[in-house]
Amino acid sequence: MLTELLAQFNVADKSGQNRLVYNAAWQANQQRLIQLGQEFGAKVTVDDYGSVYLDFPGSQPGLAVATGSHMDTVQHGGQYDGLYGVLGGLCAIEQLRQTYDRPRKTLRLIAFSEEEGSRFPAAFTGSKFYLGQPQTQPLLDDAGISFETARQQAVTPLQALPQVHTKRPALPATFTELHIEQGPRLKLAHKAIGLVTGIVAQRRYVVTVHGQANHAGTTPMIHRQDAVQRASALMTHLYDVAQQGSASLTFTIGAITVHPNVDNVIAGECRFTVDCRDETDAKLTQFTQQLDACVAADPQVTLTPTLTVSATRLSHALLRQNELLAQELGLPYEQLFSGAGHDSQIMYTAVPTTMLFVPSDNGVSHCPEEHTSAADLAKGVALLAASLYQQAY
Ligand code: GLV
Ligand code: MN
Ligand code: MN
Ligand code: MN
Repeated sequence: MLTELLAQFNVADKSGQNRLVYNAAWQANQQRLIQLGQEFGAKVTVDDYGSVYLDFPGSQPGLAVATGSHMDTVQHGGQYDGLYGVLGGLCAIEQLRQTYDRPRKTLRLIAFSEEEGSRFPAAFTGSKFYLGQPQTQPLLDDAGISFETARQQAVTPLQALPQVHTKRPALPATFTELHIEQGPRLKLAHKAIGLVTGIVAQRRYVVTVHGQANHAGTTPMIHRQDAVQRASALMTHLYDVAQQGSASLTFTIGAITVHPNVDNVIAGECRFTVDCRDETDAKLTQFTQQLDACVAADPQVTLTPTLTVSATRLSHALLRQNELLAQELGLPYEQLFSGAGHDSQIMYTAVPTTMLFVPSDNGVSHCPEEHTSAADLAKGVALLAASLYQQAY
């Protein structure tokens, strides 16, 4: 069932998946999931941010046992980041219901609206909203559309579908997120499962370097205030600083914009993003203090923080339970620290949370080449089903 579902929810397009939050592809998929949930007899809720909750009621009252991930992708993303946790979670729940019928505790599948931060300068907006933390800053996408406008246009029609509830469900007793590893370690170690011990601290910024737009042919080199020249020197310096820092630091300049971006005009402004992560907040702060110092030393440069997330240790108790289940199922596993951000790090601030990884072929992710074999995907679903069984039946 999982392979068929993934094919239905992904597009066959060499440029990859482009389900940026609230766009048409995102909306079509959340609607598809709502319909599927209704066919399976779930109670369906769509909250005001567009996260979809499918509740399979238990025979006893009490908090739900939840699983899921996010529906959005990065631009030109892959077929599994986020979606595997949603559809794999649904398959695990359906397998359990087919085999054991009704659970004792409610099983909940969650498809968070947004995790990637790829459309608006904010990430994890879906899981944060579930925890009662709505966005308070006005946010605009590259086309100048506000988060509020996009949200209302996409979410109102979903909430208006028949038999859809709109009140955010109570927080669950536990949350388990199934996800692809997005790196090479499980493949290299020939392991089927990654048991995630924690998730990196992460900070993102926009660096704006100012200059003076001017004529490319008439302005002597010594009289230029070239924003690209300044920005490229700063970028090289930051790469050097990052390389000399903590061994576990990652530093990425992923997007660069030049204004006016014309062949024969010296750039008046150059903006670039910084994404930096490390295993602990303290280690990351060592780097960001150096970043702050570089910027403070240059009046032509401004730094705008766009995301700050603390490092997270996930539930040790749930990891231990999953470790024993992996042993019972004969699945080779390894404990891993995640370098990617996940809804789990938000959920864990309120709910005992754990993550299960499956291998990523060639260790690639956030690109159309992202791939995991059907056999490897199925092993993750099997372990998730065993874990949900232990908790909810
Ligand atoms: C999102 O997946 C991230 O870790 O950047
Ligand atoms: Mn993800
Ligand atoms: Mn991602
Ligand atoms: Mn992520």
